[in-house]
Amino acid sequence: MLINVHDFERVAAQRLSQPAYDYYRGGARDEISLRRNRQAYSDYAVLYKVLADVSAIDLSTSVLGMPVSMPILAAPTAFHGMADVGAEAASARAVTGEGSIFILSTLSNTPMEKVIQEASGPVLFQLYIYKDRGVTRELVQRAQAAGARALVVTVDAPVLAIREKDTHNRFTLPPGLTLANLSGTGKETLEGGGLDSYVQRQLDPSLSMRDLEWLVAETSLPVVVKGVVRADDAVRCAQLGARAIVVSNHGGRQLDHSPATLHCVERVRQALDPSVEVWMDGGIRRGAEAMLALCLGARVVLVGRPLLWGLAAAGEEGVRQVFRTLRAELNEAMLLTGCSQLQQLSRDLVERVS
Ligand SMILES: Cc1cc2nc3c(=O)[nH]c(=O)nc-3n(C[C@H](O)[C@H](O)[C@H](O)COP(=O)(O)O)c2cc1C
Repeated sequence: MLINVHDFERVAAQRLSQPAYDYYRGGARDEISLRRNRQAYSDYAVLYKVLADVSAIDLSTSVLGMPVSMPILAAPTAFHGMADVGAEAASARAVTGEGSIFILSTLSNTPMEKVIQEASGPVLFQLYIYKDRGVTRELVQRAQAAGARALVVTVDAPVLAIREKDTHNRFTLPPGLTLANLSGTGKETLEGGGLDSYVQRQLDPSLSMRDLEWLVAETSLPVVVKGVVRADDAVRCAQLGARAIVVSNHGGRQLDHSPATLHCVERVRQALDPSVEVWMDGGIRRGAEAMLALCLGARVVLVGRPLLWGLAAAGEEGVRQVFRTLRAELNEAMLLTGCSQLQQLSRDLVERVS
């Protein structure tokens, strides 16, 4: 029986090839950031309220004005085609079918037009900025034309950190899978090499705040900046027009020794004007963990690997089940905390215990 995200990971590990599982699971170098993200959820205790009438729990909220049935969104992750033939289209159908929002990676195995068309709710497009600004501009224009509802620009990957298992495995895309959004640009394969050498060849390490300014001017879509842990970076991004900041360390896959994202949320929230939304991801495997992030100031959280485990374990239905499980766990945690509305999840409900 699959009753929690850990169960889905166990089944996914059996069904995936070893290199694919290692790629999905892994973190940078010694995986200190990867572990730290997870451990942080044990650092807080919930000072729950009693006799608070929790007969009607409401988990709905909105992001950038778009309603969502729960404050848990799908983080952008590359290469869903290794988990299931339905790939990103199946994931997007499942996530939007559950009333949440799907964020599609630039590095998807399915073209953005197909994913957006098959989704029954909002899809956002995660953008990597290529050295070739013509290609970048084209991605932005296509996302806009296809109906993406926001651009999520990832800023924590000027280079790709080495994930050492991938190096040992000589990880590359299995035959038949491509970077479908880059079709026809000459950048649609890893050319038999690793993802790290692809990123080094194609993505722009000279990225600066000026490029964020460029992107905000280039598009009519709201721009979200993903991969921030510092309050001063968040403030500068907001000043340049970012409508939301995703507190994220890329799921522990970029700088090892980065802080646990849960420990960064409060600082970032406090530094920003309330009109700028704070989203967070990293290590969430339980509904109650999402609740902790919300108490500390996140408006919503994103989950990366849990979606991939659902997809690998049971395709579209598996992704649906993962989202339903997280929703049920969050519902239970809210009930037991004495909160019926997400707005009631305040800082005073949690206490740092280690
Ligand atoms: C297999 C995998 C691929 C990822 N690919 C991308 C990507 O293409 N773009 C991006 O911005 N983030 C990417 N991420 C990072 C996620 O968006 C997210 O920050 C992270 O997975 C959150 O941590 P979690 O997996 O512990 O929930 C990837 C993460 C994983 C695990």
